[in-house]
Amino acid sequence: MTQTAYRARLLTFRDDPAHAADGAVFEEDGLLLVEDGRVVAAGAYTALAARIAPDAVIKSMRDKLIVPGFIDAHIHYPQTDMIASPAPGLLPWLNTYTFPTERAFADPSHARETASFFLDELLACGTTTALVYCTVHKESADAFFTESEARNLRMVAGKVLMDRNCPEFLRDTAQSGYDDSAELIARWHNRGRQQYVLTPRFAATSTEAQLEACSVLARAHEDVFIQTHVAENTDEIKWVEGLFPGHRSYLDIYDHYGLLRRRAVYGHCIHLDDTDRRRMAETGSVAAHCPTSNLFLGSGLFDFEKAGAANMPVALATDVGGGTSFSMLQTMNEAHKIARLTGHNLSATRMFWLATTGAAKVLDLDDTVGTLAPGSEADFVVLDPQATPLLARRTARAGSLEELLFAFALLGDDRAVFETYAAGERVHQRGARRAAALELAA
Ligand code: GUN
Ligand code: ZN
Repeated sequence: MTQTAYRARLLTFRDDPAHAADGAVFEEDGLLLVEDGRVVAAGAYTALAARIAPDAVIKSMRDKLIVPGFIDAHIHYPQTDMIASPAPGLLPWLNTYTFPTERAFADPSHARETASFFLDELLACGTTTALVYCTVHKESADAFFTESEARNLRMVAGKVLMDRNCPEFLRDTAQSGYDDSAELIARWHNRGRQQYVLTPRFAATSTEAQLEACSVLARAHEDVFIQTHVAENTDEIKWVEGLFPGHRSYLDIYDHYGLLRRRAVYGHCIHLDDTDRRRMAETGSVAAHCPTSNLFLGSGLFDFEKAGAANMPVALATDVGGGTSFSMLQTMNEAHKIARLTGHNLSATRMFWLATTGAAKVLDLDDTVGTLAPGSEADFVVLDPQATPLLARRTARAGSLEELLFAFALLGDDRAVFETYAAGERVHQRGARRAAALELAA
């Protein structure tokens, strides 16, 4: 198959820049060679120019910055239509907007149409991999995977498990949730680029029998992901502790059912204690930090200092529709400010690591995505430092890589994403969606 050669500025990572001074790898004049959907080589143009195949398609975009595709560690696709819904905190927001909205996903055509829009929106923001909550309906997961597979994206998604404390129309049972999840794993896990995640919504909406059934499935499928919410909101914590008396902490409930392990991703992790953080670290479980959601719902401030001290694996996430933006750049913007409020300085370089290679590493996906390393799937984003007049003005004065990335993180959003590629194919081009919509309307 034909090789494509991208000449641009390149950023990838070999290690966490918080721990290794040379963790970030940046080429001012870089070359990325892609063939058969995979990276062949990435590095300095001068070092690699001789490897450009005679029939290669050459794309010169020297003012742009290519980075690995962003990874969003926690997002709800059915909540796309209710993003920015006002409520005084998590529990009223769930009851007033979330549950009624999720009801509609029993209808496969509604689910397909929403999944399609959702994926286009993610790609417009440069996100090429996400851990996605569907609804309780297995049709919602089938619809999502069908749309993701059609775009050849590496996505991780799962049907929500919920057998109590929610409206009757959104309830499964321990047995039906088990059966549906097992069926979806058989149908979708590791089919092409699709992967499955067991998804008990949170302890409040699962009985002990359901958490036990989930644990049986988790043991039977060691490489399947697990995702849920923990310690997000103080009212939620009081409620859960009343439902599961006798546990040391909220996190300990999941631990009791064997749900802490590699590839287990816990949304929020705001109100954990040091024992919880150590337990997350010991088991390789991942905290998905959701800054825009935590600010919007007033849930609290994630503590990067304590997470680091405990060595707790962390990734960044939008948590749409609790989150207020699909953009991982906007997510970095708010993550930086939350870090400041908790006495920590979170550099842009580290935030780009957390949204790319760092996320892939803690999710055991680093053999496939998250870097520009040879052999990895060619999922990458082309960022435009001139995307807006202000961004152009600020990036023109950037005196270092950190300043350039900081400008993208603080001022950027979907406008900064020039193109997005998945498995070597262009899956988003800025302006094309709007142009297509205008053409349809004309
Ligand atoms: N806790 C339980 N369900 C949800 C949800 O959909 N969003 C958020 N942010 N928290 C939750
Ligand atoms: Zn969530």
